Amino acid sequence: MFVSLLIFSLSLLGAPFSSLAQNVTPLSELQWTLTNPNHSISVPGHVPSQAHLDLHDAQVISDPYYGLNDFNLRWVAETNWTYTASLASLNLSSNATTWLVFNGLDTFSTISVCNQQIASTDNQFRQYYFDVTKALTGCNSPTITINFGSAPNIADALADTSLNEPWKASQLNYEFPNRWLIRKEQSDFGWDWGPAFAPAGVWQPAYIVQLSNNHLYVRNTLLDIYRQGQLNNLPPDQTKPWVVNASLDVLGTIPQHAELRIEIKDASNKTVTSSVAKNVTISGGAISGSIVVEDSAVKLWWPNGLGQQNLYFATVTVVNSGDTVVSSTKRTAFRTIVLNMEPISKRQLGQGIKNGNNWHFEINGHEFYAKGSNFIPPDAFWPRVTTTKIQQLFDSVTKGNQNMLRVWASGAYQPDFIYDIADEKGILLWSEFEFSDSLYPVAQSFLDNVREEAIYNVRRVNHHPSLALWAGGNELENLELYLAELYDPGNYSRWQKEYETLFLNVLLPAVYENSRSISYIPSSTTNGYLSLNHSAPHPMVERYNNETEGYIYGDTDHYDYDSTVAFNLSSYPVGRFANEFGFHSMPSLQSWEEAVAPEDLHFNSTTIQLRNHHYPSGSLNTTNFANSTKGMGEMTIAVELYYPTPDKADPLANFSSWCLATQIFQADFYRSQIAYYRRGSGMPERQLGSLYWQLEDIWQAPTWAGIEYSGRWKMLHYIAKDIYSPVIVAPYWNYTTGDLTAYVTSDLWESVNGTVDLTWYDWSGNVLSNVTNGTSSIPFTVGALNTTKVLQTNTESLGKSVDLSNAVLKMNLTTTGHLPNDKTLSIFTHEFFYHPILSLGKARLVDPGLNLIVNGNNDTTSGPTFTVRATSGVSAWTWLDSPSGVVGNFDGNGFWLVPGETKTVGFDVKNDTTGGEWVKNVTVSSLWDFSTP
Ligand SMILES: *[C@@H]1O[C@H](CO)[C@@H](O)[C@H](O)[C@H]1NC(C)=O
Ligand SMILES: *[C@@H]1O[C@H](CO)[C@@H](O)[C@H](O)[C@H]1NC(C)=O
Ligand SMILES: *[C@@H]1O[C@H](CO)[C@@H](O)[C@H](O)[C@H]1NC(C)=O
Ligand SMILES: *[C@@H]1O[C@H](CO)[C@@H](O)[C@H](O)[C@H]1NC(C)=O
Ligand SMILES: *[C@@H]1O[C@H](CO)[C@@H](O)[C@H](O)[C@H]1NC(C)=O
Ligand SMILES: *[C@@H]1O[C@H](CO)[C@@H](O)[C@H](O)[C@H]1NC(C)=O
Repeated sequence: MFVSLLIFSLSLLGAPFSSLAQNVTPLSELQWTLTNPNHSISVPGHVPSQAHLDLHDAQVISDPYYGLNDFNLRWVAETNWTYTASLASLNLSSNATTWLVFNGLDTFSTISVCNQQIASTDNQFRQYYFDVTKALTGCNSPTITINFGSAPNIADALADTSLNEPWKASQLNYEFPNRWLIRKEQSDFGWDWGPAFAPAGVWQPAYIVQLSNNHLYVRNTLLDIYRQGQLNNLPPDQTKPWVVNASLDVLGTIPQHAELRIEIKDASNKTVTSSVAKNVTISGGAISGSIVVEDSAVKLWWPNGLGQQNLYFATVTVVNSGDTVVSSTKRTAFRTIVLNMEPISKRQLGQGIKNGNNWHFEINGHEFYAKGSNFIPPDAFWPRVTTTKIQQLFDSVTKGNQNMLRVWASGAYQPDFIYDIADEKGILLWSEFEFSDSLYPVAQSFLDNVREEAIYNVRRVNHHPSLALWAGGNELENLELYLAELYDPGNYSRWQKEYETLFLNVLLPAVYENSRSISYIPSSTTNGYLSLNHSAPHPMVERYNNETEGYIYGDTDHYDYDSTVAFNLSSYPVGRFANEFGFHSMPSLQSWEEAVAPEDLHFNSTTIQLRNHHYPSGSLNTTNFANSTKGMGEMTIAVELYYPTPDKADPLANFSSWCLATQIFQADFYRSQIAYYRRGSGMPERQLGSLYWQLEDIWQAPTWAGIEYSGRWKMLHYIAKDIYSPVIVAPYWNYTTGDLTAYVTSDLWESVNGTVDLTWYDWSGNVLSNVTNGTSSIPFTVGALNTTKVLQTNTESLGKSVDLSNAVLKMNLTTTGHLPNDKTLSIFTHEFFYHPILSLGKARLVDPGLNLIVNGNNDTTSGPTFTVRATSGVSAWTWLDSPSGVVGNFDGNGFWLVPGETKTVGFDVKNDTTGGEWVKNVTVSSLWDFSTP
């Protein structure tokens, strides 16, 4: 992370850097010391870093993620920490203005230079810059001191004094209380999937900048690329030329008659255009202007699976009397992305779409199906999130057939390097302001602080083509306002007004006044607007629950921990888009081994229970097991309901099987929902997106994640990859009536023809020839972004001729077609095994007699492949397992096989500490093995 940010900031200064009288030194180059208030701890510190990381480096504390350190290290969060360094080595020039620039201070800091207090800060998400010239004057041995106050203590003190607290009953508490009063990553105080470390430190790069007269330093660059006439939230005219609007936030005085030059180069550095910007304005420390770029001059950027990721470089240069003063280069691209929430049109009604409003994304004017998940902070300590980690994680995203991540509030605004990787891989990032599951204060000082945070981040990331949306926060309209209305109806209008103050009057203008290319919604889950008028003082009037009966409006957020209805399709919400849904599962034994002692490796051990934060303890009370127990019970019940329960003699093997069993339920449940939502693309709801909760883990614990902390895929990520294939076949079963249908669903942008082969087997693998059409081949045509029925039958009548506990329907789809914007013809296949009995625990499973063959063990270029074969029965939820010491993923997993069938998969190694020995320890199992000793 440090390296990539550093390179980025250097390239941002542009090539003429050395000729300018501007001197930029990263504060990472100083020798820092970290101390506690009484100096009993004094260790080497770093910038960027956080106190926990430096204390761990110095072996003052053990690994924060190990065992119960979530609880044992609370003293670190409750202590003030001071970072100090000498500036003597810098040879600071006395004839220049000297600035300190911090791209992120976490969170309550007091900064002194030469023992003179410079400033105090109170927002983790703002960039701060201070003129320290005076403080340095006459200072012989210059030093810098940054004292961080304890965030939990300060939040508590604010709660004692706050006159303008939000309403308490609606606030979701995790561990440390009062998170809503401070502008710090909200999950630092605990969440239901993570620990509560509340770290402190200079968490982003920081610089000392020296400027002599007439020189400038670019501290932030806005690039806004949109179609002429485009307005936020509305689909633009795709025939119009592009406008490139650039704006530089600078330190130093901008010459009054400065010009702005904008040059666009393609990926091979060929100049596309280089022009003097029009409409140049200079105000508030920023210089802005724009140019027009003809449509034909550039190629479009597309998300993963929908076309290529064509990237460009834009260099913005301030020119004064013919001389370059400063310039900034950003990698960017040309695309429009809109969240369309406009009323359903007559044409759409004519297509059979239900009345109401749209709620879907359009890329370059095209509707598409958004496939993806929710991205939480990849670590509790941001400074240790590396480029490699995100590259590997995002590789898993694209391999998983995903094109969009919702970057959850609250978290932190993503650093640029993460958007850069998303730009390269074509991952759309639905981004959010950091507000979540709470009402927030509306004191003027709080709003002013938020406004600065929002404007800085909106401007900072707007050039990234992966930026898909800004949302005000997480679960506000659908949850917080709902709770306020439920529990405090008498004051509801006050809570709604305060919500609008922050999310419509502060955050919406931060987006609309800095960007025309990006849509805004106040809350992640929302019924959208009643009206949108960009020239009105308050452009967005919200609909809330003012719905017309029978109409469909917004997106959906669905959690149901009553697993008895997990496969009851009528329990799923019908909406235009599913932005959250899920259920928790255990991580693998291999992940548990990283984090807990051998004696704690059993399902309900104290350590595992205390690392399970669903349901959250709600306070700092560590002896309250009741909430965790409930969550552990939910996973157990789901397994017992639907699968044979693990019953192995070896306790460790049994624990491992239990972990896997919870993952099977999780994957099965998500697959059922994803198939249902995707089928909705061809139903009256015209459902056009599903983003499940959640992509990845922040640490090793039972959570909703599909990818474990180390990068290992759970069953979920494999199954999500499968069910996010472009063309799928899936069953839809009403187990109460026996009504069984199957549909083919496609998110291609063209109509395709293909066949689905249907074959009924018993569990031994014999074809059930007494079932009508025991085997059949159904031709189908499925339209663009549409669905079509390929089977209609009834399992009750089927049950008259076969034993439903001894029947399996294999559905196998093949078709050919083009991926969007791809001229080559591709073959698409998909398979689904359906069983006409709800619980596989009651099915007549037989031993599938699995064989595993390792091929090409010595082939170091493409790695080994693994061939699995079933010999004596149907193999359900076949699971290839890689041992500890290697992290990576198989191409496929969790598949089913009928006897005689083989499947060969590769393995993509992300990290191998075994010197290749891991290959020998790959194992294969299936559901059958749960009940074998
Ligand atoms: C810790 O920091 C806070 C806020 O900066 C300050 O009020 C308090 O006095 C400090 N306490 C100690 C022990 O340094
Ligand atoms: C300070 O003045 C010296 C001598 O005039 C000059 O060489 C140097 O570039 C100046 N430093 C800065 C940062 O402008
Ligand atoms: C284009 O220029 C950038 C910035 O100077 C450089 O990093 C990159 O390697 C160049 N790319 C090519 C293809 O020459
Ligand atoms: C400059 O502003 C005028 C008036 O608003 C507008 O018509 C024109 O398109 C702008 N030029 C550019 C290059 O944006
Ligand atoms: C409810 O929505 C209708 C339009 O569908 C609008 O005319 C009416 O004013 C809204 N009512 C409220 C209370 O906002
Ligand atoms: C774990 O504990 C919960 C709560 O006591 C219990 O319901 C569940 O059966 C246990 N799970 C296992 C796998 O032992």
